[in-house]
Amino acid sequence: MSSAIATLTNTGSRQDPIVIIKPPISGISVTGRIKIPGDKSISHRALMLGAIASGETTIAGLLLGEDPRSTARCFRAMGAEISQLNSEKVIVKGVGLGNLQEPIDILDAGNSGTTMRLMLGLLAGSEGKFFTVTGDSSLRSRPMSRVVKPLQQMGASIWGRKDNSLAPLAVKGSKLKPIHYHSPIASAQVKSCVLLAGLLTEGKTTVTEPALSRDHSERMLAAFGAELEIDRDTNSVTLTGMPTLRGQNVIVPGDISSAAFWLVAAAIVPGSELLIENVGVNPTRTGILEALAMMGADISLENQRTVAGEPVADLRAKYGKLKGCVIGGDIIPRLIDEVPILAVAALFANGTTVIKDAAELRVKESDRLAAIASELNKMGGKITELPDGLEITGPVALTGTEVSSYGDHRIAMSLAIAALNAKNTTTINDAAAAAISYPDFFNTLERVVSS
Ligand code: S3P
Repeated sequence: MSSAIATLTNTGSRQDPIVIIKPPISGISVTGRIKIPGDKSISHRALMLGAIASGETTIAGLLLGEDPRSTARCFRAMGAEISQLNSEKVIVKGVGLGNLQEPIDILDAGNSGTTMRLMLGLLAGSEGKFFTVTGDSSLRSRPMSRVVKPLQQMGASIWGRKDNSLAPLAVKGSKLKPIHYHSPIASAQVKSCVLLAGLLTEGKTTVTEPALSRDHSERMLAAFGAELEIDRDTNSVTLTGMPTLRGQNVIVPGDISSAAFWLVAAAIVPGSELLIENVGVNPTRTGILEALAMMGADISLENQRTVAGEPVADLRAKYGKLKGCVIGGDIIPRLIDEVPILAVAALFANGTTVIKDAAELRVKESDRLAAIASELNKMGGKITELPDGLEITGPVALTGTEVSSYGDHRIAMSLAIAALNAKNTTTINDAAAAAISYPDFFNTLERVVSS
C-alpha cells in the first residue's frame, strides 16, 4: 500500500510493518461509504457454538481477523470441522455437546482473550479429557484467575503459573456442579465462560454481574436451543445445563468497535461525512454512540433493522464541534473497547473530558490507559493518566512523530486516526497489530481520505 496518506512498510530489520501517515498541508477530509468487518465477539461465539452443537452451522459475515482464526484453529484441533474461513459462508460441523476431542497438542489462543476465556469454560466440564492452553506474550500476561476461580468453584481442575492465574494453563475436564456466581467485574468474557461451563453441568448455573456487559452469548445460546432466564433488574442470567444445541445459520453484523474509528475520524476531521453500513447496534455495545452524542457529535442511525437476532443500522457521521464530558459508571462496559479512540475524540473537544471507572483497560491486549496516554502525548496531547481512567484537555494541535501500538490493534488504529489530524508525519510502529480485529483497516483509510 502506498499513497500520499498512508504507507505500510515492511522494514528489513523488523517483522512488523510500520505505517507512515502523512496528511498533505492543504488538509484532508474523510468521505464515502464504508463496509466494516464482522463483529469480533459474535464471530468467536458463532464458531464456538457451531463447534459444540449437533449438526451444521453456517456463518455469514465472519470476521477474518487473527482472533477468530485462533478460535477456529483451537476448535478444529478438538474435532470440529470448520471450512476455510471467508466472509461469505463458513460451514461448521459440530461435534455435539460434550464431545470435544482431547487435542494432541497445546491449544494456542494467540492474542485472543475471548478465545482463551470462553474456551476454558467448555474445557473445564469435558470429563476425562486433558487440555493445555496458551497464547502470545500479551495473553500470557493477562489475568485468567477471573475465570479460573468461578470454574474451580464449579469443581474444575486447572493449573497454571502464579497460583493458576496465568497461561499456559492445564485443564483436566471434570464433572461440574452448578453455582450462582456473583462476578466482581462487568465482563462478558467471565459471564460467558461460566455460562458455557454451565452447558455441561446438570442443573441451573447463574451469573450476576455488577453492570450489564455485552449479551451476545445469551442471544446466541438461546438461538442454538439453550434455556436461559434473564433478569435485567439484577443483571443476572441463569442457564439450564445439558441442553440440546442445534446448528444454526448465523449472520454476523459489522463490528461497532471497528466502526468507532470511522465515527471519530468523521467527527474530528473538518469537512468529513461517512456512511458506515451494516453496524451491529446491540444496546450492550452502543455506549460509544451515547458518549459521542454527549460530546455533541453529529451521528445518526439509518435503516434500523434486526438481523438474525441482533439489531443493525447504518451510521452516518459528520464533522462537527465537540465538547468535553464525563464518561463513567455503567456505560463503561458498553464502550470498553472504544476508550482509546474516545481519547482521540476528546483531544479535539472543547474543555476537559474525564473517563473513569475504566481500570479494566489496564489488563487488555496492552495497558490501554498507559499506552494511549503516552503515545498521544508524544504527539502533543494533554492527557493525564488516572488510576482508573484518563483526563483529557482539548482542543490541542497535534504534531506527528514516531509512536508505538504496543502490539495492540486498537491502539494502532486510534493512533492512525489521530495522525489524520496532526501536522507532519506520524510513524506507527507495530501497526500490523490492526489485523487482529480489522485486517483491511489501512486500505480503507487510504480509500476514504481525500485531500
Ligand atoms: C469481549 C468482552 C470484552 C471486550 C473484548 C471482547 C467478548 O472483554 O473487551 O474485546 O467478546 O466477550 P471483557 O469481558 O474482559 O470486558
